[in-house]
Amino acid sequence: MKSQEEISLKNRPESLKPEGDWSNIFSYHPMDVELKRSEGIHYFDVNDNKYIDVTSGPFAFSLPHNDPRMKKAIADQMEAFSHITPTMANRPLANYSAKLQEVTPPKLNTVYPVSGGSEAVETAIKVAREHHVTNGNTDKYKIISNYQSYHGMTLATQGLSGNPAYAKKYGAILNKWPHIHQYSDHEKPEGMSREDWGIKCAQELEKAIYFEGANSVAAYIATPHGCGSEYAVVPPKEYWQEVRRICDHYNVLLIADEVVTGFGRTGKWFAMEHFGVDVDIMTIAKGMSGCYVPMGGVVISDEINEAFIKNKAVFAHGFTNSGNPLACAAASMAIDIYKDDKLIENSAAMGKKIESYKDMLLSHPTVKDMRGWGLMWVLEMVENKDSGEYFSIDKGAEGTFHSIAMQNGLVFYSTMYGRRREPLFKRGLPLMISPPLCINESQIEEMMDKVDNSISLWEAEMGVA
Ligand SMILES: Cc1ncc(COP(=O)(O)O)c(C=O)c1O
Repeated sequence: MKSQEEISLKNRPESLKPEGDWSNIFSYHPMDVELKRSEGIHYFDVNDNKYIDVTSGPFAFSLPHNDPRMKKAIADQMEAFSHITPTMANRPLANYSAKLQEVTPPKLNTVYPVSGGSEAVETAIKVAREHHVTNGNTDKYKIISNYQSYHGMTLATQGLSGNPAYAKKYGAILNKWPHIHQYSDHEKPEGMSREDWGIKCAQELEKAIYFEGANSVAAYIATPHGCGSEYAVVPPKEYWQEVRRICDHYNVLLIADEVVTGFGRTGKWFAMEHFGVDVDIMTIAKGMSGCYVPMGGVVISDEINEAFIKNKAVFAHGFTNSGNPLACAAASMAIDIYKDDKLIENSAAMGKKIESYKDMLLSHPTVKDMRGWGLMWVLEMVENKDSGEYFSIDKGAEGTFHSIAMQNGLVFYSTMYGRRREPLFKRGLPLMISPPLCINESQIEEMMDKVDNSISLWEAEMGVA
């Protein structure tokens, strides 16, 4: 472990400025180090410094980095053909679809391939709309989502995200669909059980449907765990069961956005399995191909699929790279690796190991909460536990943490939740711990000791005792 003298802000590596080779990248975000190669759970920079990928990049690189099996699968497909005209039958896609349905929940057996998470959510919106039109419910078009959620960066998905920062810039051109508050332990009245509170929170959805008019609402979309200030809060199963009941009652489709939580991140193939709740549509990306090649998809229930077939409906949709053969080959091999290396089971087991550090981490004056599942954990960081407030922006807390962590051999996906966003009042910022699913026990020990040490050094630097 490095000492405080060795890890100091004075030793912070020079940021790569938007100059020279970096100057032609629009809106370039200066970074501290340039990546040379990666392997397993590690990155190596151009000076051969080694870092643990604490967050699997943006909770996405769930497979081992630089895995020879992935490289071979992509290379073999490239040897045959790398792309395909949509008028020809795509064998890699057919093979992948068959393999995928072996691991998806029982009623979700057909997939529409796309190139990433935002496209998956956009596509899911259109599937929901098309389903209702196909069934004669032509007034149903609104999609209800949660405040503070994140579903992507395109216009339709930013509109879902219920985030004031986006609304400020793009509000005029975003859809104006309703948002509801998500499940929150923070707001649970004292004395009420999580189960009862879960049911009450779910009923926010019923109120929104009522006030919007059930005849206009097509779907509700949400991530299985919390988002924004509630990131990785796992609601009780009663919450999701009540949501399902409400959706059924009002003929509203339930869309689970499993872009982050899918493919073992939470210790099961898909997070909704924890709640025993079937959804109508599921969006996937990230872990789907481990991002070796861009890939996303929308997985659609038999009921929706059968209605499409019965009504001879044609989905007016498709992207040049939908079902790209290299992506299909990569995603097929990803499923084999998840199975062969027992990565889903490993995620559940190593998650328990991370959880065992909870008391140690909560003893820090800046760690107000620790929550999560599988290999998706969040520390809620605050300046002061009593007030629950986070550091004001002028204190540069994220940059300081980032610098200390990197000198300690840890790379986080940006720091404290992407670029600085205003925390909610009396709430901290989430610090994610979500390593690749191949991480082993001794690597967790090294990573968690370094996380603990980085937080201590950061607290000293920030003047928090
Ligand atoms: C829940 C969720 N949905 C959708 C997206 C968008 O995915 P992509 O960045 O691949 O477009 C993300 C990205 O982080 C996400 O977290």
